[in-house]
Amino acid sequence: MLSSQLLLIHGPNLNWLGKRDPKHYGQLTLADIEDLTRQTAKQNSFQLSTYQSNHEGALIDTLQTRTSNTVGIIINPGAFTHYSYALYDALLDTQLPIVEVHLSNINQRESWRSISVTAPACIEVIWGEKEKGYVRAVEILANHLRTTP
Ligand code: DQA
Repeated sequence: MLSSQLLLIHGPNLNWLGKRDPKHYGQLTLADIEDLTRQTAKQNSFQLSTYQSNHEGALIDTLQTRTSNTVGIIINPGAFTHYSYALYDALLDTQLPIVEVHLSNINQRESWRSISVTAPACIEVIWGEKEKGYVRAVEILANHLRTTP
C-alpha cells in the first residue's frame, strides 16, 4: 500500500537558496531542503511531493490541482506570506492541515515581515530555525494527523 502523501511548497526566490543571505536563510539549497524534508517524511511513514514557483497563480493552481491525494501541506510562501490574500484563500480552500515555515526570524527583520496573512490558514507557523523548521513541520503534521479524528 502507498503511504500517505505530504506536499512541500516553496514560493518566490526560494529556488535561489544557497545564494541568498546565509545569515537569514542558511547554507542549504532548495534541493537539500527538499531531501531533508523527504527523509523526515519517510521516517514518519509519509511520501513527499514538492513544488516551487515564483508565480502566485502557479502556486494557487498547484493547491487546487495537486492536493486530492495529499493529507497535509508544508509551505514557505516567501514574500507572498506578507500580502497574498489569494494564496491565503487557496490554502484555506484545501481544508488540509498546513504548517507554514520561514527559514529566517521574520519577527526580527523589517516590520512588514512580521505580518503573515497566510498564517490563519495554518495549524502552526515556524520561523527562525533555518532548515530545522522543516523537520519540525513534518513532525507537527505527523502528530496532528495521528491525533486528530
Ligand atoms: C522567508 C521570509 C520572507 O519574508 C522572505 O520574503 C522570503 C523567505 C523565510 O523563509 O524566511 O523569501 O519566507
